Amino acid sequence: MTFRLPVYKQFKIDVDKAEGAYIYDTGGRKYVDFISGVSVLNMGHRPPEVMKAVESVMAKYLHVSNLYPEQNQKEYARLLVERTIPGKVFFSNSGAEANECAIKVARKYFDGDKYEIISFVNSFHGRTLATLGATGQAKFKEKLGPMPPEFIHAEFNFLASAEEKINNKTCAILVESIQAEGGVNVSNPEFMAGLRKLCDDNNILLILDEVQTGMGRTGKFLGIQHYGVEPDIVTMGKALGGGLPLGGTVIKDRYAQCMNPGSHGSTFGGNPVACAAGMATTQLITDEVLKAVSEKGGLLMGLLDNLKKNYQDIKEVRGKGLMVGMELDYEGAPLVDHLFGRGYLVNCTQDKVIRFLPPFIIEEHEINELAGAIEEFFQKRGEKNE
Ligand SMILES: Cc1ncc(COP(=O)(O)O)c(C=O)c1O
Repeated sequence: MTFRLPVYKQFKIDVDKAEGAYIYDTGGRKYVDFISGVSVLNMGHRPPEVMKAVESVMAKYLHVSNLYPEQNQKEYARLLVERTIPGKVFFSNSGAEANECAIKVARKYFDGDKYEIISFVNSFHGRTLATLGATGQAKFKEKLGPMPPEFIHAEFNFLASAEEKINNKTCAILVESIQAEGGVNVSNPEFMAGLRKLCDDNNILLILDEVQTGMGRTGKFLGIQHYGVEPDIVTMGKALGGGLPLGGTVIKDRYAQCMNPGSHGSTFGGNPVACAAGMATTQLITDEVLKAVSEKGGLLMGLLDNLKKNYQDIKEVRGKGLMVGMELDYEGAPLVDHLFGRGYLVNCTQDKVIRFLPPFIIEEHEINELAGAIEEFFQKRGEKNE
């Protein structure tokens, strides 16, 4: 009997502890973590530098509130601005809240005169009602309607579709550089550059949801940094708190100016322990680490592409850095179960897309071994179907 709302499909595992790239169950069995808490533990579980930072804040306080300036929050905001876009940071607790803040700023900047936001089919922006409205997938909204009507969905990677949705009520375009939850759909460079131009030409804001693609996941600190396009607002979450709950919205000064004391807030947002953990994690994500992310991602995609040549089970392999999707020709759950049995944790999204999000410290031999375990599944499946 469970006392928790049954909203999650869960692996049959009793987690005992986690360290580095591994999760251990209470029976002492080790699993190689190719999920990283859904792109949260980018530098792995419990890096010593992060644990030290957390412990040193906890020795002083757990929470002080946003009524006082706090050192970790101040320093982390500065570091994030350095690594993203010039502007101001608002800290919250989650990715959805980071997007809520972006939506509010975009509306407030236009004094509430412009309020429509264009987002994209297959996007995912969170589970609050506004961010669910922005999310471009019907399955998350079933029987929850009516949704806030000010979110208009255009086709991803199809510039003309976004262009035709713009009107004099549009205040922003909200987009992911890779639609992660939506099946690891990578945006193409012309699309991103085109969105920037559309926003400039129509005096509307470009908001990049980097909640899942941010913090080095794709081989650059932000996914959008592959495209040479500068957004007006960047939203972050997941790995931002180095394993603790933290959301962040970085807003260019020009737009940040419309916010003043009282216009937004959060009790826990920017918790000092979470900021210290996030800052220690961000400091670990050096250029060298980003290069390794690209190389290890290249290795994984190369191995999967090779499998694709030999097995029709794979329809497509796509991704950037260590966010890799392998779309199967059939439902992915049996492969997830097979890999679980072999000691690998992987996730399936959109029913058929196996999503790999390992921590950046994953070792090359572990990537090779994972590919071997996947091939074993295809072979067995082939034999069964003969
Ligand atoms: C791109 C993107 N935006 C927003 C969110 C929502 O983040 P949270 O679950 O922290 O609210 C997610 C979560 O998966 C996400 O992938």
